[in-house]
Amino acid sequence: MDKRQHASVLLSWYDEHARVLPWRVGPKSGRDVRADPYHVWLSEIMLQQTVVKTVIPYFETFLARWPTVFELAACDQEDVLKRWAGLGYYARARNLHACAKVVVSRHDGVFPSDEQQLLALPGIGPYTQSAIRAIAFGKRAGVVDGNVERVIARLYALKKPVREIKSQIQDKAFALTPASRPGDYAQAMMDLGATICTPKRPACARCPLQENCLALKGDCAAALPVRAAKKPKPVRTGTAFLVLREDGCVLLRQRLDKGLLAKMLEVPSRGWIEGQKNARNESAPVQAQWQQVPGFITHTFTHFHLQLDVQCAHVSADHPVLAAADRARCRWVPRHELGEQALPGVMRKILSHGFGEPL
Ligand code: ADE
Ligand code: SF4
Repeated sequence: MDKRQHASVLLSWYDEHARVLPWRVGPKSGRDVRADPYHVWLSEIMLQQTVVKTVIPYFETFLARWPTVFELAACDQEDVLKRWAGLGYYARARNLHACAKVVVSRHDGVFPSDEQQLLALPGIGPYTQSAIRAIAFGKRAGVVDGNVERVIARLYALKKPVREIKSQIQDKAFALTPASRPGDYAQAMMDLGATICTPKRPACARCPLQENCLALKGDCAAALPVRAAKKPKPVRTGTAFLVLREDGCVLLRQRLDKGLLAKMLEVPSRGWIEGQKNARNESAPVQAQWQQVPGFITHTFTHFHLQLDVQCAHVSADHPVLAAADRARCRWVPRHELGEQALPGVMRKILSHGFGEPL
């Protein structure tokens, strides 16, 4: 494939079809424009494991609240977790805040453009550093996310599972990247993957790269990339305890500092284990008349599916929380303030299920 032609065809397509996204500045008809590194970094962290549509309102809220890295570095971590609630993968939020602090303390609030300096920052790995260097600094870097992997695997008709050919894909992606407008080029590849070269039914008839695509020639586009057999996720089950106090407050507890959903607020629960081993009742957070809410909620994490039933109890204002160890982490939150808390998606599901209406 002629690399120069590939880049120029793709960039012309991008000039016409680029998605309009709040962290982008372009394209501006072929000119090499660069987005603010703070915006690029923030959006790229949010976009890891999360689709564009979900990220947009979060990105806008963060920018409105913390217009620069200085404000973000100066705020409380709890506040960042609150605003992140619902986006998932909460280690990203803690790293985001840690990274902002380091950028301010060690780099005077100016994001570095050097690969090694970027990699040294919390939460920035090989993908994110390449995206920041290309999009914010106009450096020639091979930016390879899931969309780009798929496009490359198809362009070259690579017939092995992506996991086995990561470095080959990375090399090919870098080799195709032009020296001019590498940031627009990277985002053009992403947009092509998200809108034309889609996983199930690629729209090859509308694709600007069709002349150079080996998968199209070999009539195997939809079959690529080859998917490695997936291990089925185990199902864990448990019970959540929704405690409603007579003054309209709900019992929430802060999770431990380490592990899944670390430091986020939760509806107290027990179980989260495989099989039917949690028939006991002793781990309820208060002594009360429990009532089973009909049905259950499900939520999928990286390594397991969770299914919880919800028990509900009404208690008086002076009702004690059972476990002493829990008391410091427990708080009573007025029901109308639940929407503003650092509540992960699964906890919102529990509350909506318990109340029979969205938060
Ligand atoms: N996914 C990750 N980064 C992106 C970007 N800059 N534009 C669109 N989708 C993306
Ligand atoms: Fe993807 Fe089809 Fe375009 Fe090839 S021709 S890059 S398979 S959309």
